[in-house]
Amino acid sequence: MAARRAALQVAVVLLALCAGGIGASPGCRKHVRRVTEYGAVGDGRTLNTAAFARAVADLGRRAGDGGAALVVPEGRWLTGPFNLTSHFTLFLHRGAEILASQDLEDWPLIAPLPSYGRGRDEPGPRYSNFIGGSNLTDVTISGYNGTINGQGQVWWDKFHAKQLDYTRGYLLELLYSRDIIISNVTFVDAPSWNLHPTYCTNVTISGVTILAPVHSPNTDGIDPDSSSHVKIEDCYIVSGDDCIAVKSGWDEYGIKFNMPSQHIVVRRLTCISPTSAMIALGSEMSGGIQDVRVEDNTAIDTESAVRIKSGVGRGGFVRDVFVRRLSLHTMKWVFWMTGNYGQHPDNSSDPKALPEVTGINYRDVFAENVTMAGRMEGIPNDPYTGICMSNITAQLAPKAKKLQWNCTDVQGVASGVSPEPCPELGAEGKPCTFPEEELVIGPPELPKCTY
Ligand SMILES: *[C@@H]1O[C@H](CO)[C@@H](O)[C@H](O)[C@H]1NC(C)=O
Ligand SMILES: *[C@@H]1O[C@H](CO)[C@@H](O)[C@H](O)[C@H]1NC(C)=O
Ligand SMILES: *[C@@H]1O[C@H](CO)[C@@H](O)[C@H](O)[C@H]1NC(C)=O
Ligand SMILES: *[C@@H]1O[C@H](CO)[C@@H](O)[C@H](O)[C@H]1NC(C)=O
Ligand SMILES: *[C@@H]1O[C@H](CO)[C@@H](O)[C@H](O)[C@H]1NC(C)=O
Ligand SMILES: *[C@@H]1O[C@H](CO)[C@@H](O)[C@H](O)[C@H]1NC(C)=O
Ligand SMILES: *[C@@H]1O[C@H](CO)[C@@H](O)[C@H](O)[C@H]1NC(C)=O
Ligand SMILES: *[C@@H]1O[C@H](CO)[C@@H](O)[C@H](O)[C@H]1NC(C)=O
Ligand SMILES: *[C@@H]1O[C@H](CO)[C@@H](O)[C@H](O)[C@H]1NC(C)=O
Repeated sequence: MAARRAALQVAVVLLALCAGGIGASPGCRKHVRRVTEYGAVGDGRTLNTAAFARAVADLGRRAGDGGAALVVPEGRWLTGPFNLTSHFTLFLHRGAEILASQDLEDWPLIAPLPSYGRGRDEPGPRYSNFIGGSNLTDVTISGYNGTINGQGQVWWDKFHAKQLDYTRGYLLELLYSRDIIISNVTFVDAPSWNLHPTYCTNVTISGVTILAPVHSPNTDGIDPDSSSHVKIEDCYIVSGDDCIAVKSGWDEYGIKFNMPSQHIVVRRLTCISPTSAMIALGSEMSGGIQDVRVEDNTAIDTESAVRIKSGVGRGGFVRDVFVRRLSLHTMKWVFWMTGNYGQHPDNSSDPKALPEVTGINYRDVFAENVTMAGRMEGIPNDPYTGICMSNITAQLAPKAKKLQWNCTDVQGVASGVSPEPCPELGAEGKPCTFPEEELVIGPPELPKCTY
């Protein structure tokens, strides 16, 4: 009897929780609907594009009345691209998988980004993002670690075979949006970049898993682009390109658009990316990148750690970068700066548009099985300056290079760096700075909602 009563009580509590009301913490939505209520079928075959569009349109009407959550239950939900709306949560249950259609006919074309002037792979417009949204406020993508699967193989094959006339879509791109939370979801097999917050502010990305084959083309993990106040915490990324790449537009288009990426925090990231960086700054950085704070990250079998990529024609700046407490295992180059990164949108890049790279601080870095400690290349007549390194240990791989540092057009100071750095970094320095005060980004605590 007692057991039955207890079970009943549990059921009542669960019901109340599922209704979203009782026990709901701030940030939880008043209106909760399942995607099945809009006719979606989770069999992995039925195309649910219209159901997702109906759901978002309907729930968008609840924005002013406590907001809405669209719940995706366990199942395989095939759909073409869809957009999100404001005061909205996309909530994926455990075992829920949203599958991107592999039929290119389902992917409309959209305008290129103004700060890029064209698609990144090809000139002109670009394929839609899989999940998109513009000019939104207060959007959450969350759940019990359900999956958003870009099914990118068809795109990678066509990209390699040069069969695409337009740039591939990103898995998730939000434009001109604010107050975003992406938490406890998994993204796999993106056609190209995974998460692309662009012209956004106040973005929290936490507890996210991103997986793509390590040789898939341009499957960057998280690319904050002309965005500010972005916090990336406790994420696990395996990818075929940079785990994280902070960007801000491309050559003359980015210079004109003039919107920096700034106040970015990346902490407790685990990255595996054998052909790319744990965190890249650039190469598209023409609107500027400043105040980037990186700490307590782990990289395994990754080409380089926090890499700066720029070149003549980019313009813009990269300054006030602070890195500490990295644990690195099997790296080709622990430190890598590049001053001749190619790739221009067209022939109109300004050869006089030189980037300013200065104030780059690394400390408390331990690396093992390293092929070469530093490949540091600035730009002739435009050196990268203000580089600081302190308390750095790079233990060499059995087949390490004889030359451990190759420095050109860079200036800075070093202390407690092993192996002995190049003379360009030779001056005795103090411990490199890391800002004392924390940046305030996102809600003080993540909302815990059960739908
Ligand atoms: C999503 O919104 C963009 C505008 O931001 C629009 O161009 C695109 O057609 C929309 N996509 C869908 C699938 O509705
Ligand atoms: C979104 O906001 C930007 C910048 O304010 C504006 O240029 C654009 O027209 C807006 N887009 C939509 C779809 O409202
Ligand atoms: C989430 O799912 C991914 C992919 O299945 C898995 O690798 C990861 O460990 C899961 N994370 C949690 C917290 O369960
Ligand atoms: C940032 O967004 C969160 C919700 O994600 C909100 O609670 C917080 O007030 C926002 N902060 C600012 C400064 O806009
Ligand atoms: C740039 O110029 C080269 C040769 O001058 C030409 O082959 C190429 O098509 C041009 N590229 C673009 C994007 O206009
Ligand atoms: C030097 O860095 C290591 C991590 O690589 C850290 O454990 C140690 O405390 C640091 N030493 C000082 C003096 O900060
Ligand atoms: C060390 O790095 C080499 C590549 O330089 C790799 O083949 C090897 O497996 C790594 N060893 C360990 C113990 O990770
Ligand atoms: C050092 O770097 C410069 C500039 O990238 C390059 O030209 C040169 O070949 C490198 N030297 C060695 C020995 O790798
Ligand atoms: C994600 O999971 C963590 C750990 O279980 C939890 O603290 C956090 O609130 C969850 N995020 C959301 C948005 O529910």
